[in-house]
This record gives sequence, structure tokens and C-alpha cells, in this order.
Amino acid sequence: MLLKFRKCTEPFGNGGSVNLALQMSLLLVLVAKINGAALNASHYQYQVAGQGTPADPQIAHLLLQDSDMVRAWGTNLTAVSWAHAVNSQQLLDEVLTEAANIDFIEADIVLGKLNGEGEDLPVMAHPPAVVSDLTLSDFLSQIMEFNRNHGGREKGVKLDFKSIEVFEGSLDILDESIPSMSYPVWINADILSGPVEQNKTVPVDADRFFAGCMRYKKAALSIGWTTNWGADFRDGEYTQDQCNAMLESLTANNVLSTGQAITFPVRAGIAANSQEQLHRLVAAVNETNESTLTIWSSAGDYVDVEKLRQLIFGFGLERVYLDVPEELASQLDLGNPGNGASTFKSLFSFSFVSLCFWALSSWLQRI
Ligand SMILES: *[C@@H]1O[C@H](CO)[C@@H](O)[C@H](O)[C@H]1NC(C)=O
Ligand SMILES: *[C@@H]1O[C@H](CO)[C@@H](O)[C@H](O)[C@H]1NC(C)=O
Ligand SMILES: *[C@@H]1O[C@H](CO)[C@@H](O)[C@H](O)[C@H]1NC(C)=O
Ligand SMILES: *[C@@H]1O[C@H](CO)[C@@H](O)[C@H](O)[C@H]1NC(C)=O
Ligand SMILES: *[C@@H]1O[C@H](CO)[C@@H](O)[C@H](O)[C@H]1NC(C)=O
Repeated sequence: MLLKFRKCTEPFGNGGSVNLALQMSLLLVLVAKINGAALNASHYQYQVAGQGTPADPQIAHLLLQDSDMVRAWGTNLTAVSWAHAVNSQQLLDEVLTEAANIDFIEADIVLGKLNGEGEDLPVMAHPPAVVSDLTLSDFLSQIMEFNRNHGGREKGVKLDFKSIEVFEGSLDILDESIPSMSYPVWINADILSGPVEQNKTVPVDADRFFAGCMRYKKAALSIGWTTNWGADFRDGEYTQDQCNAMLESLTANNVLSTGQAITFPVRAGIAANSQEQLHRLVAAVNETNESTLTIWSSAGDYVDVEKLRQLIFGFGLERVYLDVPEELASQLDLGNPGNGASTFKSLFSFSFVSLCFWALSSWLQRI
């Protein structure tokens, strides 16, 4: 009796009965089926992250700089740390220190006035604000200066252009700065109207945006949808139509063949409800090996945390950047492998114990 139990606890050890092994495989198939929805990533054309891979933001940086580089599978992109909406001199000062421990600086650009005076020019602000104490030009040169003096600890920069006018008005500045950047630069715009029936914000003209971006092959393209969400929203998703429109825009503008890295910024609360569509989109964008999701969230947004975890672990930690408030990040508890995996483990142990009892009872019946 005791002997049987020991065999059960070591099913793959030598001396295991063939019959038991067969039953085991059947059971495994069954368990895999039950968990299929959470575990099945095979048809999305990319590998699943190795667990326990150390976080290495520096590798993430390199990946985005050189899209021809062999992908280092297993890099934990959720470990890349963000400073969000760095739209003033004070915030930039706070972020540009080694102590700040920030990998990526995200900021918004509008056509507006420096200190409320003079001509309109690209300044760092989020609509509806159109006044700032920091111009795009100064913002970029301060980051460049910092990075020049901090080799190996450079910070990446994500520029969120709020209108096609400010983007086109920034091209001269970008022409001057991007070629001398030896660190990652992302150019972001919401190029399509998105959830939930968002019609207040005018999206950035996609064709003109892509035309401008063609000049910066080393920049990653971060392209998303305008959104309408908040604390009181529950339903709403990136619809299949909206994802198709994204794909059509990428194809029509010949973006996929340039080898430029692509990331889709998606709002956490809505993305959590859109797993199927987002998987299909990323799977379809397969001419480039670099497409990722960047999950962002506004403070106070409603987010179904469990569904968001499923989304993140479904894509794998090497496909998802996470730029969300601290509170949401800690609720996600990413140190704890995916819910799918833990359900799998517990289901597996449960089934396995049951199997042992079943084997034991059959054995008892025979004697
Ligand atoms: C996994 O995905 C493939 C391809 O879409 C599908 O044929 C298969 O049924 C899926 N498996 C499970 C367990 O859902
Ligand atoms: C925006 O959508 C709402 C709800 O669908 C509608 O009532 C409103 O008229 C729309 N506004 C515009 C400018 O299209
Ligand atoms: C890439 O995606 C397209 C569209 O979904 C699909 O037809 C094609 O088979 C995919 N190619 C590869 C190599 O996965
Ligand atoms: C994409 O990755 C595959 C497998 O790693 C590689 O064979 C292929 O050359 C890559 N394609 C591009 C465009 O980088
Ligand atoms: C990935 O990074 C997140 C955020 O830093 C961390 O919580 C998690 O433990 C990491 N996971 C792995 C497998 O490295």
C-alpha cells in the first residue's frame, strides 16, 4: 500500500506501471482542455515566456532600438518602469535623476504657448491644457544631456503627439534630435476612434502620421485608438472592427514592411475585455517580429484585474509593457505566475490525488 503511494507521487520515475502512465496522459489531456482557454497561445505565432527570467530593461531597450536583432525571448517587459505625463520642468527634473529609477519617460505634446506667451509651438502638455513651461525642444535636449552623462543607465522617451498639426510642426525638431539618440524613442499617436463610442477627441490623421514617421526608422511606432473610459465604465472593448481598421491602416501605409517596431497602446480597463481581438491583431501583424502591447491606465479607471492578468499572461511578459498607476500594478501581482498556470497546478494536483485514490481503490479491490 505504501509502495503504491510512493509510485503515485513519482509518476515519471522508473518502475511506473504502463497502465498508470496511460491514465495519466489521458488525464493530462483533459486538464489541458479545461485550461485550454488560458493556456493556448500556440496559434499566435510566438513563444511563451520562460518563467523566472530576470528582468532586464537594458535588453528591452536594445530590442526596440534594433528590430533586426534576434529577439531575446523571455525578457520581462512588464519590469520596464515608466514615468507618465512628464509635462513640466519640475516633473522632468524629478525624473532625470539616477535615484528616480525610471526606464522610460512618457510625455504629451500639444501646439501651445511657452508660459502663455509668444507664438504657438510644440510644448509639453496634455489637452485641454495649451500652456506649458517646457517646450518639446528643451524636453528632448535635457533628456539627451542626461543620457550622454549616464552611459548604461539611459532613459527611453515616448512622445505622445495629440494632434497631426503638432506632430507635423515637430518634424524639424525631431529631425535634429532623433538621429543622435542612442536610446529608445517611441512616437505615439491615437490614429483611430476607439471605445467606447468615443467621438469627442479627433484622432491624429493616420496617413499623415505614418508619412512623417517614415523618416525615423529607429523609432518605435506606438499607435492606438482614442478612448472614452473611467470609473463608471464596465462594458466596452476594442471591437473587431476597430482592430481591423488598425490593420488596414498599417497595411495601406506600408508600415509592416519597414521593420519598424510596433506597439499598440491599449487602455487597461478596455483591453481586459478585448483579449480575443487583441490576440488576433498582434498575430496578424506578423511581418515585423516586434509588435507588443503597452497597457496604460488613468488613475481611477475601472479595471477587471483578473481579466487583465489573463491578458498579460496570455501574451507573455515578453510581449507586454505596463505603464499603469502603482496601485493597479501591485494588484496585478505579476510575481505570481498567471492564473491559468496556478489553476492548472491546483487542478493538476487535485486530479492527481484523485487518480492516486482511484488506483489505490482498484488495487485494494483486486486483493
Ligand atoms: C488552440 O488553438 C488552436 C488554433 O486556433 C485550436 O485549433 C485549438 O482547438 C485550441 N486548443 C484549445 C485547447 O483551446
Ligand atoms: C457622440 O456620440 C453620442 C452617443 O453615441 C451622440 O449622442 C453624440 O451626438 C455624438 N457626438 C458627435 C459630435 O458625433
Ligand atoms: C501572418 O498573418 C496573416 C494574416 O493573419 C496570415 O495569413 C499569415 O499566414 C501569417 N503568416 C505567418 C508566417 O504567420
Ligand atoms: C522573425 O523571427 C524569425 C524567427 O526568429 C526569423 O526567422 C525571421 O527572420 C524574423 N523576421 C524578421 C523580419 O525579423
Ligand atoms: C516581471 O516583472 C514584474 C514587474 O517588475 C515582476 O513583478 C515579476 O515578478 C517579473 N516576472 C518575472 C517572471 O520575471
